[in-house]
Amino acid sequence: MKFHLCSVMAAAGLISAMSACNTGGTRTLESPDGNVKIEFNLTKQGEPTYDAMYKGKTIVGESKLGFEAQGLPSLTEGFKVVGISMGSEDETWAPVWGESDSIRNNYNSMTIKMRKNADSVEVLMGVEFRAYDDGIAFRYVFPEQETKQFVITDELSQFAMTGDHTAWWIPGDYDTQEYEYVKSPLSEIRSLNTDDKLGNVSQTGFSPTGVQTSLMLKTADSLYLNIHEAALVDFPAMHLNLDDSTMVFTSWLTPSPDGTKAVIKTPFKTPWRVVMVSDKATDILATQIIYNLNEPCAIDDTSWIKPVKFMGVWWEMITGKSEWSYTNAENFDLATFDYSKAKPHGKHGANNENVKRYIDFAAENGMDQLLIEGWNVGWEDWFGKEKDYVFDFVTPYPDFDIAMLNEYAHSKGIKLMMHHETSGSIPNYERHMDRAYDLMNQYGYNAVKSGYVGPILPKGRYHYGQAEVNHYLDAVKKAAEKKIMVDAHEAVRPTGLARTYPNLLANESAMGTEYQSMSPGHVTILPFTRLKGGPMDFTPGIFKMDLSTFAPNNHNKKRATIANQLALYVTMYSPLQMAADFPEHYAEKADAFQFIKDVPVDWSESHYLDAEPGEFIIVARRQKNGDSWYVGGVTNENAREVTVPLSFLAPDTQYEATFYTDAADTDCDTNPETYVIKKETVTSASAPVIKMARGGGFAISIVPKK
Ligand code: NOJ
Ligand code: CA
Repeated sequence: MKFHLCSVMAAAGLISAMSACNTGGTRTLESPDGNVKIEFNLTKQGEPTYDAMYKGKTIVGESKLGFEAQGLPSLTEGFKVVGISMGSEDETWAPVWGESDSIRNNYNSMTIKMRKNADSVEVLMGVEFRAYDDGIAFRYVFPEQETKQFVITDELSQFAMTGDHTAWWIPGDYDTQEYEYVKSPLSEIRSLNTDDKLGNVSQTGFSPTGVQTSLMLKTADSLYLNIHEAALVDFPAMHLNLDDSTMVFTSWLTPSPDGTKAVIKTPFKTPWRVVMVSDKATDILATQIIYNLNEPCAIDDTSWIKPVKFMGVWWEMITGKSEWSYTNAENFDLATFDYSKAKPHGKHGANNENVKRYIDFAAENGMDQLLIEGWNVGWEDWFGKEKDYVFDFVTPYPDFDIAMLNEYAHSKGIKLMMHHETSGSIPNYERHMDRAYDLMNQYGYNAVKSGYVGPILPKGRYHYGQAEVNHYLDAVKKAAEKKIMVDAHEAVRPTGLARTYPNLLANESAMGTEYQSMSPGHVTILPFTRLKGGPMDFTPGIFKMDLSTFAPNNHNKKRATIANQLALYVTMYSPLQMAADFPEHYAEKADAFQFIKDVPVDWSESHYLDAEPGEFIIVARRQKNGDSWYVGGVTNENAREVTVPLSFLAPDTQYEATFYTDAADTDCDTNPETYVIKKETVTSASAPVIKMARGGGFAISIVPKK
């Protein structure tokens, strides 16, 4: 098939310098540096397809595009191209918080407009492509048309892999990302994809070759690829399903209870489908493509949005030392239960005295906030009950004096952080949200950690469905109206929406420290995968690795060294960083805790110095609007020695560097709590050689000498 669109495009002024009008059915789009190419093609059957190349090598083979929609013939074929427009962008924007204080958004674009006569209806559908120097992206565009609403029953976007790549993946699941990553060739996903290793209260796999995004891949010729999505708005989250006979992934949307996937109203643009690419692993860490594909900030006054370093009355509940609940009441019902007559079980963590103790320590050590979980009534009933009305989000337990504790915290210069566990009951949270946010405004809380543990209610819905995706964003938008920052756990994994709504400081959406004893390599893969969509509330900073020493029934051991825990404040970028361990554990190792006190939570520039997915990551960052640098390195279960050139430092300047490293005998399993701290003068010519223990790491603070 041949298109003769050049004359039309020239008349419309749409031809760019790119080869959009070569003969044949292929339209090519190149990235600004020419390294990335996307080809669009319409087959004889009118099937839209694309492929992609990087430095002359195919990275995505011929892949089909389109949808199935209720009541319509397949929207994967029978299309005609009715217009093509080309464009480009080169802008630099300043994020409210971030890894750097400016981000360049530089791409070329091509929008293909298509028409299909589907029985008696005419369907208009377009595909908008963008070629960046470090990736490709496309989204579907349904312009205003006769059909006002489409019920999407399947998205059939393909990503044809060119070989049996190595993948770092977690099982496709409609409800959770709280898994350890598996490294395997694509061909072994089927045999390794067992979802029984977790015991999460909500876990819904859908296919033995289903995986989640962001999916990290490495080709046999050492290209790094990463498939994810950007700007997930009013659409279900996308998973990928592999045909392991052809190595072709196809998009797999999270369903609604009736089995359909999405209801879209025209005009509509889907989220972006993205393939990041580079021959350097560090470029995958550094790329800002996901944020660039999101809309600019939608909040006019962002002056109230501030990165947060916090502690929490939290780790003690997670480890079983204390409890969220106040009583052992059985057959509990919040509507009728009388706490004033109830006998406390004596293990309630969020009591006035304990909270004050944390406030004192957090304030003395420069924290911005203190999270308190289990402050509100209902925890007797919360876990796995699939019950609508568990929490009201406004009534404190009898031993939590909300007015006094907020006043006490404010008098010491810190804020309390709110906690809203919804137990998966979205309707109940929505009913209470206004009052819950108003209570925060009343007492001076400006950040909420929300959570969605357990199966989503109403029954039959999933965490990553369209309605739920809409809820999470509505909660963030409503919070913005009340000047509240959000840290949502168990919500859908982020897709860069924090560019548009920077009050969404972080999400969890992956296995975090609450899992206590995951493998050391986990933190060397998260920045390549989960963090591509946005920051994670990973809750680092554990100093006491044998949990039975303070929670006798807990036999977990954290498989990390102290230097590794310090490094995470640099390697796991987030504007929301918790110092997750207890005040008394930090007090015992005040010299190591100093790094957590010093490390910023906002940056002017970041340099990924060296990395390999699942192996190790080394990154240097300069504090926002300052001259001090912080370097972090983490390794998996292999010890390794690395050379860290400090060439990013300003020339002709002497700095005092404080090195926090593993000791010679440190080991994440046998001797995790030893470390060495040493100070040295360094310059941009220095290149210290540092040993990381198994499950270890290092942290360096580098401050200009006066
Ligand atoms: C799971 C969250 O990830 C954790 O941080 C929280 O403490 C519990 N849910 C209770 O809400
Ligand atoms: Ca969680």
